Formats: sequence, C-alpha cells, structure tokens
Amino acid sequence: MVLVRSTIFALVTLQLLNSINCAPVNQSTSGTTTQSNSISTIKAIGTSTTTATTSPLTSSKTTTTLSSSTSKTTSKNHFQVYLQVYLQVYLQGYLQVYFQTTAKSSPTEKPDAATDKKTNADDGKNTADTSGTTGVASRVSVSTSKTACSNKKVDFTKNLGGWKEEYGSTNLYEITSQGLRMKLLAPNEYIPKIDNSTGLPYNLYEGTGPTFNPPNYMQYGKFTATIKAAPEGGAVTAIILIADNGDEIDYELIGADDQHAQTNYFWGQQPVVGVNGGIHDVSGSIYSQFHTYTINWTPEKIDWIIDGEKVRTKNMKDTCSGGVCKYPTHPARVQIGLWDGSRESGTAEWAHGPINWSKTKVISSYIKELTVECNPEYNTIS
Ligand SMILES: *[C@@H]1O[C@H](CO)[C@@H](O)[C@H](O)[C@H]1NC(C)=O
Ligand SMILES: *[C@@H]1O[C@H](CO)[C@@H](O)[C@H](O)[C@H]1NC(C)=O
Ligand SMILES: *[C@@H]1O[C@H](CO)[C@@H](O)[C@H](O)[C@H]1NC(C)=O
Repeated sequence: MVLVRSTIFALVTLQLLNSINCAPVNQSTSGTTTQSNSISTIKAIGTSTTTATTSPLTSSKTTTTLSSSTSKTTSKNHFQVYLQVYLQVYLQGYLQVYFQTTAKSSPTEKPDAATDKKTNADDGKNTADTSGTTGVASRVSVSTSKTACSNKKVDFTKNLGGWKEEYGSTNLYEITSQGLRMKLLAPNEYIPKIDNSTGLPYNLYEGTGPTFNPPNYMQYGKFTATIKAAPEGGAVTAIILIADNGDEIDYELIGADDQHAQTNYFWGQQPVVGVNGGIHDVSGSIYSQFHTYTINWTPEKIDWIIDGEKVRTKNMKDTCSGGVCKYPTHPARVQIGLWDGSRESGTAEWAHGPINWSKTKVISSYIKELTVECNPEYNTIS
C-alpha cells in the first residue's frame, strides 16, 4: 500500500510539474522557428556548472526541443528538470518492483541479485550479460532483445546517407565537396548581456544550428567521424552517442579552443554535471584541418580515440559503487550537431563565447565521413 501511495504521489507530482512546465511553452506553428536541439540541452546541463558561481538550480536553460524565436518562455530551471528526472526514475523503479512482486517473474528477466553479483564480481568481464545492463539500470529497464543496428560508412560529400536533420530544416546545412556543412545561423537580434550574478557575458538570443540523427540505434559498438570544427568562440561542434533515457557519450569541439577536444559521458538516470568530462590535446588545428574522432563503446569500457590514438579510457567497473554502475548501457544513436552555447553565462564561458554575431552571420563546421560498427553480440546487424 505504501508502494501504491508513493506511486500515485509520484504520478500526481509529475503531472503537476508537467503542467507547470508546459504552461508557458508556446509551441511553434510554422517553419520560421528557431530550434534548441537536444545536444545543446544536454550540453547546457553538462557544462554550465564548470563555472563555480553558476548555480545549477537557479540558472535557467532551454529544455523543450522546439521554441519559437519570438517566444523566450520555454525554459525550466534545473531544479524542475532534476526533480522530474528523479521522480521518473523512482516511479519506474516502483512500477518495476510492483510488477515483479505481484506478477510471476518472466523467465527472460534476470533476478536483480544475480545481475548485481555479476556486476560486482566479474571485474568488468561480464561479456555474457546480453541484457547489456548493470546495477540499478537492470532494475529500471531490462532489455532482452537485440538492437537493430546498421554497419555503415557514410560519405557526406555525396549525401546524408540516411541521417536526418531533427526538424527537417534544410537551411541549416548543405552537402559540399568538404562534406556536410553544418550552419549555425545568427539570431534575428544580437543582444549581448552581462549576467549580474556571475559577471559573465552571454547573449539574450541564441543562434540556430542543426542536429542530425541516424535511422538506427546501436547498443555497444564503435563510430569514427571525420570532422572540421567551427572556429568561433561560443560555437560547439558535437558528435555524441545518445540514448533515449539520457545515457550519453560525447565529443565536443569548442570554438576558440584550437588543438583541444573535450570528452564526456552521462549516466541517464542521474546525469551529474562537471564531473565526467575530459580535455585532450589534438595535434594540429581542429578548425582548419579534418581529424578523426572515434568512440569505442563496450560493456567493459569506453575508449575515446583521436586520429587513431587513444586519448582516454573509462572502465565500467570504475563507475560502480554500492552495487550501482553509473555507466551508459542503453541503445544509443550517433548524433551530430552544431549549437550555440551563448545563452547562459556559465555555458558561454565554457564554450569560449558568447558568440560575437557582429563579426559573422553564419558559422560552419564540416563532417566528411562517418563509419559505424555495431557490436554483434548486442545488435542485429544489417
Ligand atoms: C503564444 O502565441 C500566441 C500567438 O502568437 C499568442 O497569442 C500567445 O499570447 C502566446 N502565448 C504565450 C504564453 O506566450
Ligand atoms: C542587472 O544589472 C543592470 C545594471 O546594473 C540592471 O539595470 C538590471 O536591472 C540588472 N538585472 C537584473 C535581472 O537584476
Ligand atoms: C564584436 O566584434 C566587433 C567587430 O569586430 C567589435 O567591435 C565588438 O567590440 C565585439 N563585441 C564584443 C562584445 O566583443
């Protein structure tokens, strides 16, 4: 009964939160809208607290995927976002436990104890765990079927190879001899501001950039992207693996920070900010030259590899404590994007921005080629 009451409480609270959050949102009705893509959303969470003075609970950020360029009311504060995420996680957990205790255990589901023991005892060698889940993740979402994944090499000098711009915006990219040119367009008005609480600059309005998604998901595997980043401070070229539950593995190439690449990962059920990032040297300019950026994601570890050289490894077992491994395990998509990190002062500082739109109206980055190799143990490969 306690369980049922808690569940109802969580449901009601979620609905309340949603109604609060949705009230001011003005959904766009035409093609003349600007977008705030999911990459920028997640990056904004992941990076804004690199400024110690920026409180993640009070700084506002855009969380809806579509916002009209005239309506600037589509932001939630971090508190609401986190509360919502936690409630969703707890609610899922409750329901899972509820069904496990009231219904007969399905033979395809592993008992939690066994999974936890495996996670703890196997020291990272649990390749037989075909659910691909660990720790708490196995309780919240147990996937038993394989992911439909496509081994692919896309030559972006020819076409999009099945990748699609998230909102179908055709003005934000073009196919060129250098590959897919992603375009970040200036906002209608450039209004630089100073954030009174941090003393840092930001822009009142952000530019609009594209986000590309592939048709397929991949649960473990490898991708390599050949990219030339956008040069202007405040512009972020991103190539990431992102799951529907928020698990994420990233490269972020920051304008005005030549010869560096940033890496990060998030455990979707409890995304922590300013904790899991890394900064790595790149030999040669990330703006004026193409470099290859690889992520090799296995159940045991994540390797980040630039120009064929491993720059970082994160072992799954090093993410575990108290039987919970905070490691990305869910089927994810390779997402490519170019976004403006200028609208929140902490993010703008991290991104070496805000963008000075009086110098330029269009900022570009290029992706020439992308290969995806799905892990055959966890994916049905086409
Ligand atoms: C939403 O947009 C409509 C039409 O542009 C406008 O009349 C309305 O006041 C807006 N609502 C909010 C909450 O901004
Ligand atoms: C920030 O400071 C400026 C200049 O002192 C002031 O005009 C403005 O009202 C302040 N804004 C906020 C939100 O406090
Ligand atoms: C933006 O660039 C212009 C032209 O180079 C310059 O005059 C202006 O001071 C810059 N603005 C900021 C806020 O740096």
